[in-house]
Amino acid sequence: MTTQDNLVLSTPSPTEGLPAFRDWSRRMRDEHPVHFDEARNAWQLFRYDDVMRAHQDHNVFSSRLDKVMPEIGDLGRGSIVIMDPPQHRKVRTLVSQAFTPRTVRGLAPRITEITEELLSAVVDRDRFDLVSDLTYPLPVTVISELLGLPVEDREFFRRSIDARLSRDFVRVEDALTDEELIASMEEANSYMLDHVRVLRRQPGEGLISKLITAEVDGEKLDDVEIVNFANLLFAAGHITTTMLLGNTMLSLDEHPAAAVELRADPDLIPSALEEVLRTRTPVSMTFRATATDVDLHGRTIPANSLVALWLFAANHDERQFGEPDTFDIRRDPNPHLGFGQGIHFCLGAPLARLESKIALEILLRRFPELRVLRDEVEIYPNTRIIGTRRLPVAPR
Ligand code: HEM
Repeated sequence: MTTQDNLVLSTPSPTEGLPAFRDWSRRMRDEHPVHFDEARNAWQLFRYDDVMRAHQDHNVFSSRLDKVMPEIGDLGRGSIVIMDPPQHRKVRTLVSQAFTPRTVRGLAPRITEITEELLSAVVDRDRFDLVSDLTYPLPVTVISELLGLPVEDREFFRRSIDARLSRDFVRVEDALTDEELIASMEEANSYMLDHVRVLRRQPGEGLISKLITAEVDGEKLDDVEIVNFANLLFAAGHITTTMLLGNTMLSLDEHPAAAVELRADPDLIPSALEEVLRTRTPVSMTFRATATDVDLHGRTIPANSLVALWLFAANHDERQFGEPDTFDIRRDPNPHLGFGQGIHFCLGAPLARLESKIALEILLRRFPELRVLRDEVEIYPNTRIIGTRRLPVAPR
């Protein structure tokens, strides 16, 4: 394949709009289902069946990304997403014990309270930024309380996360240099380490304290492992839900009839959220490392290659979904891959679903009309995620 081909096939930025992204992913599914992306130095898979299989076959598609990206180094130690069995199972069992369906259900009254409080602060305004005023503070408050971190620090968290999300690891127009990115991650690590040390001396109720005292096969997790795990839970535990809620607002603004239906029948909210996860997949891709050569659609992905599994593209595959570009809040079944699949299936999916459902119910009830000020919306310029950084809205 020529360099020219590679340019034509290079991923559009989500800032170019959803149709461009959908068209590109259709072309890749049809013409280049197994593609080597020189810029990313990674193979890419696009079709639903291939992406599904790669998530399920963890012996061939390993999560040990540190083996193909040694630069991950200590930053990845203890991070469940880059573990394979048997270590993965042990750690997942341990966190799952602290993060039971009962714990999640028990959070409903607090989620309702936070949402009502946040919306009371903006209800009389002509316009507000849905991200700063609701979709960011709600999940960050919930996950901070769950982990046992001081909620007052949320502006620090936001700066740190925002800096990292504004950068795609291949795009030349990235805002952040390597040094700045590393500095931002180190800042987040040292913040978390300070808290882990405090909680070691004085354990509290939160999940971090449980991780400190928990044992995996008779061994406790060390500080680096706890810090990395807490960072992952913290980041994965809020910004993704921020994206889902913002993406929902955008989708409803584009499909006003769906918004009317949801206001009339809030029982449809859960299935509408699943359709947003499918059509505006917040985590647009996951990564794996091949443990062996893989022959697929006439190409061979060599062992020890980095592979990007395109959840967004799989979620629009016409081989799996009827009329994949149609936003259908009643789609049933809707086996989208927005939360991944297999042993790494999102641990926080029940929490994300609960938070988003409660927030959307209250938002739609308290604002009988809400218009997105489309010219002012800011989309993250990062192909790995689909979401808004700023989402100005006006009650009509
Ligand atoms: C894993 C998406 C919310 C914690 C994943 C994966 C995806 C995902 C695609 C699979 C990663 C892979 O296979 O490599 C999302 C989306 C969310 C969301 C779209 C919101 C709409 C949350 C929340 C939490 C969370 C609220 C925590 C409270 C995790 C963790 C993993 C994970 C710990 C790793 C699980 C493992 O490796 O076994 N998530 N997530 N996520 N998610 Fe989420």
